[in-house]
Amino acid sequence: MRILSGIQPSGTLHLGNYFGAIQQHVELQETAGGSDRAFYFIANYHSLTTVQNAARVRAFTRDVAIDYLALGLDPEKATFYRQSDVPEVTELMWLLSCVVGKGLLDRATSYKDKIAKGLEASMGLFNYPVLMAADILICRSTLVPVGKDQQQHVEMAQDMAGSFNAAFGREVFVRPEWRFSTGAKVPGLDGEKMSKSYDNTIPIFLPDGMTDKQAWKTYFASIKTDSKGVEDPKDPNDTLMTLYRLLAPAKAEEFGPVYVKGGVGYGELKKRLHDAYSETFGPLREKRRAIAANGAFVEGVLVEGAKRARAVAREVMADARDACGIVTARETHG
Ligand code: ADP
Ligand code: TRP
Repeated sequence: MRILSGIQPSGTLHLGNYFGAIQQHVELQETAGGSDRAFYFIANYHSLTTVQNAARVRAFTRDVAIDYLALGLDPEKATFYRQSDVPEVTELMWLLSCVVGKGLLDRATSYKDKIAKGLEASMGLFNYPVLMAADILICRSTLVPVGKDQQQHVEMAQDMAGSFNAAFGREVFVRPEWRFSTGAKVPGLDGEKMSKSYDNTIPIFLPDGMTDKQAWKTYFASIKTDSKGVEDPKDPNDTLMTLYRLLAPAKAEEFGPVYVKGGVGYGELKKRLHDAYSETFGPLREKRRAIAANGAFVEGVLVEGAKRARAVAREVMADARDACGIVTARETHG
């Protein structure tokens, strides 16, 4: 078994990313059975489909690495690398492009959504699922933990693995399966899905220099609610309760019946939410600062991760090239 997942460095990581992806990545490293069984990477080539600014790509890549390490990714238990440090990924993408039908990519809902939001219809955006399939297949991954929005992309990777094997008559690639991180989508400040594109996020770590008081005002106090009064019964599945259940499951269970019955206002729950957020992530802020101050450590983790991932990728790529008759000097001259 090999677990693999990627995260794009295309913005500041938020609670949607944490509860939708990162939390499970960190949990899975405990049961995966060794660092060669859990692969996580920073999909920096993917981020170029939306962020075309070198300084931002660099900073987001660095921040994602630091955030993951602060949130518990353990380089002893998981292999953690930058996508661009495993160039076999982009090499494989070409081979897969030659066996995937354009019609399959035309059906990608994520592509259509991005175009509908006004993004330029670049070839990179269109080929996004092929690059993602290469990420998955180059490491012979069997299990891909993702949010629901990524299910179709993993299914496309299954398709491409099958098409390649069938076209060249060899079982080069194993079929990856998807697994959902969480059933719930995490709501943002406005009640819609929390997403960096909607400007409704609560970051996992506060921006540099932001005080707790400012965090209260910027995020928790401004969560959108309806006009129910203190005494009114409340909806147990509204934005506030959904976030509370994620941040403090035991407390939320206790508080739920009181909330539904009426007698507590939205302000009370917003304060509880802010407290739960500070209790969960506050203690990790110091750890994050220490990691951020040790650039050599972060780089060392990524370099070592790339070494491990590349050992697998090289072997798979050699097999894939051989299956389709591509000869390179690497094979003939070492
Ligand atoms: P964004 O929507 O902010 O652009 P991404 O698309 O980069 O976030 O998501 C990265 C990962 O986090 C994906 O696995 C995605 O499923 C998960 N994720 C993002 N937002 C949410 C959310 N609001 N609820 C649950 N999971 C989410
Ligand atoms: N497309 C994924 C997302 O936006 C990120 C990603 C890139 C990925 N390559 C991957 C996830 C391979 C799982 C496996 O969330």
